[in-house]
Amino acid sequence: MAGRVEGRVALVTGGAMGLGKADCERLAAEGAKVIVTDREVEMAHQVADSIGGDAMALDVTDEQQWKDVMHAVQERHGGLDILVNNAGNVIFENIEDCSLDHFKLHLDIHVVGTFLGCKYALPLMKNRHEKVGGGGSSIINMASTAALMGYGAIPAYTAAKGGISSMTRSIAIHCQDEGYGIRCNALAPGGIETPMVMEVSGRAGENPMDIPAGPLPQDGLGDPRDVAGCVLFLASDDARFLNGLTIPVDNGLDARPHH
Ligand SMILES: NC(=O)c1ccc[n+]([C@@H]2O[C@H](COP(=O)([O-])OP(=O)(O)OC[C@H]3O[C@@H](n4cnc5c(N)ncnc54)[C@H](O)[C@@H]3O)[C@@H](O)[C@H]2O)c1
Repeated sequence: MAGRVEGRVALVTGGAMGLGKADCERLAAEGAKVIVTDREVEMAHQVADSIGGDAMALDVTDEQQWKDVMHAVQERHGGLDILVNNAGNVIFENIEDCSLDHFKLHLDIHVVGTFLGCKYALPLMKNRHEKVGGGGSSIINMASTAALMGYGAIPAYTAAKGGISSMTRSIAIHCQDEGYGIRCNALAPGGIETPMVMEVSGRAGENPMDIPAGPLPQDGLGDPRDVAGCVLFLASDDARFLNGLTIPVDNGLDARPHH
């Protein structure tokens, strides 16, 4: 049986570990040709080798690298159907402790990185349905519950994720108005067991927690595959009528009354 993104070309940023790696694995398992990109190029190659994909070095803050990568994608794969702007960082510093440099670092990686990704991918993603059929191309940006809720410890990260969420709407409407056949949505995960979360919870270098396969309790952490499944859905034609959204992937965290 054909996979849900069979024959599509997908590029994932920050694909070497964590959520990005799980996205690469799931998209490849469902038939996509996946280009794994990361600034950790060795690890990106390892992921690509394990899924029969392609790997490229990409620091998402570097405009020239985006241009070079998109040129190579066009040459090697003839276009792009799915873009996952996933690369990210977080430093826990409240408004009093956060330096301007650290604030700008978050905006650079998340907002500028996502802006550059969308800007330089768009020409390769436009009107792809005319060549490959199906419901069109899909951009998936990685926001966070931090775009939706107030976390006192991470003002730079919340500003950056809020920027991604609102930019997602703008890009979705522009592409729709231009008739490009490109949808643009964001996911807002919260509490997923990745190297980033292990680091901020003081468990860097330890073995990841074993996330049960069944229903999760209220305070249960999610598995990267919980986000990858949502990436796959948004990338697929099943999500043809979803556009401009920021969708929480947080086991009900955002829905719960906080008082
Ligand atoms: N894990 C969670 O619970 C959670 C929750 C909300 C949002 N997110 C978001 O999901 C995304 C992935 O998070 P994760 O938990 O997998 O993090 P992670 O730290 O485990 O992985 C991040 C990846 O991004 C790469 N990266 C960082 N800066 C880069 C840059 N400038 N250029 C290219 N690659 C770069 C890293 O090398 C790494 O491979 C991030 O945008 C993060 O903010 C994660």
